[in-house]
Amino acid sequence: MQKPVVLITGAAGQIGSVLAEKLREKWGKEQVIASDIKYSPLAKKGPFEILDALDQNRLEEIVQKNKVTRIYHLVAILSASGEKNPVRTWDINMRSWMNILEVGRKYNLERIFFPSSIAVFGPLNEKINTPQDSVLNPTTVYGLSKVAGENWANYYAEKHGLDIRSLRYPGLISHQTPAGGGTTDYAVDIFHKAVKGEHFSCFLKKNTRLPMLYMDDALRATIELMDTPVEELTRGVAYNLGGLDFTPSEIAAAIQNILPTFSISYEPDERQAIADSWPSSIDDSMAFQDWNWKPNYDLNSMCIEMIDELKKKYFSNLSTALPKI
Ligand code: SER
Repeated sequence: MQKPVVLITGAAGQIGSVLAEKLREKWGKEQVIASDIKYSPLAKKGPFEILDALDQNRLEEIVQKNKVTRIYHLVAILSASGEKNPVRTWDINMRSWMNILEVGRKYNLERIFFPSSIAVFGPLNEKINTPQDSVLNPTTVYGLSKVAGENWANYYAEKHGLDIRSLRYPGLISHQTPAGGGTTDYAVDIFHKAVKGEHFSCFLKKNTRLPMLYMDDALRATIELMDTPVEELTRGVAYNLGGLDFTPSEIAAAIQNILPTFSISYEPDERQAIADSWPSSIDDSMAFQDWNWKPNYDLNSMCIEMIDELKKKYFSNLSTALPKI
């Protein structure tokens, strides 16, 4: 099999920064072009292009010049930030996706990855083990853009034969790059505060249960989905993906098992309404059925690794730039 030439858009973000490294390990660093609207340290470790994903000409130029065969399109404004400027969020999330789909059609790309989200669900959906084929009723612009993005993916797959694959990510927890602008971000921020020995004020209520996943598992799911032969996939677009589900007070207790002096208080803000509209847990049995998807991390093993990694980041190499949390 010929190695793909991969382009990652939005590569400086929470997912892209680690996915780029994983894909470079897998395919070789020359095969993976990271791109973002601004410079990223990824540029030091392999091919990197400055790309505003709204700029169709520049996108085409990069695809042509590098003979790109696969794209992972990670550009998006997330749920909480998106509500501050709905029109701009729609524009960035949707127009960039249409640019990718058009480039996919014109250059006959071999495969495309689209990150969807639990934000496609809304208050009318079953809360527990939300099924794959629910009627989607998002409440945020981010969620609207993900539903539309899934539908456009299906349209291009149907009309133009594109192989587009997609996961509905739950909240993702990682130590490498801070999350930004999401409703599930508290579950990343909490670790930074805990490791620095600071009090954490949580913007969700203590009993708000949301589906979550450790980044290591999320990347494995992404790579497994993209590696599965197309004939083994019941659907390409928008597999439900779950792993963990917990509340702020449960994750705080798990952190306190490791860092007993950690303290938390609850000051819910406008993000509470978004969280309340989302599932508490996800039925991802179709991913299990199609490529045997299983998470490796539970709440405790994730907490141990997050705290370990952040301790290294904060305390053993003070010369490296620290994330602003
Ligand atoms: N993590 C995202 C958010 O909170 C959900 O996909 O917006």
